[in-house]
Amino acid sequence: MISDKNKKIKLAVLISGGGRSLLNMIERIDAGTLPASIELVISSRADAKGLQIAAQAGIATCVITAKGKSIDQFSEEITAELDRAKPELVCLAGFMCFYKIPDHYHGKVMNIHPALLPAFGGKGMYGHHVHEAVIAAGCKVTGCTVHFADNHYDQGPIIIQRAIPVQEDDTPDTLATRVFEEEKIAYPEAIELFAQGRLKIEGRRVRIVPKV
Ligand code: GAR
Repeated sequence: MISDKNKKIKLAVLISGGGRSLLNMIERIDAGTLPASIELVISSRADAKGLQIAAQAGIATCVITAKGKSIDQFSEEITAELDRAKPELVCLAGFMCFYKIPDHYHGKVMNIHPALLPAFGGKGMYGHHVHEAVIAAGCKVTGCTVHFADNHYDQGPIIIQRAIPVQEDDTPDTLATRVFEEEKIAYPEAIELFAQGRLKIEGRRVRIVPKV
């Protein structure tokens, strides 16, 4: 871990499943290449494998399920946990529920999506569904997008995109694997840019200001 705690950005990570993006963040933090600390992991599922990954890394976790709750109630419960943990940035990492972002977290919530938004986003477009749709549409290029989240699915200003070619013999699985390799680069990069104060939201665009 990086020894200078003052230079780490405090993150909260919201997950629903495998926690691969979470693991990538933990590995990069441990390797000293991502100056961050993960203060809290919130899972929308009690059986999410990502909870074990967080626990093994000594990160505080909590489970907040959406079942039987209104979007407002579910979101308020998440916000209450976030407010306790006081993250500087909230990272949605394979989080498959809708979180209604309150005003005080606007511009402080990021999401990663396994396609080049605004294509192949929106409700129901997650995980393998995205890669199936990309292949079915005959796309020659796909990739991943890190964006600021707003209160619409997979919308919000785009921070980073990484593109890869779709091969003739790609299946949703092979494509998912290669796209995820790009996600592993894009998300930490976006977090670091945020931590350095280099992301300026201007309407729908995010300007990346040069390092001083
Ligand atoms: C990632 O590929 C991420 O882009 C995707 O879930 C995967 C991570 O899940 N997110 C979405 O599809 C959001 N619309 P995991 O960490 O549970 O493996």
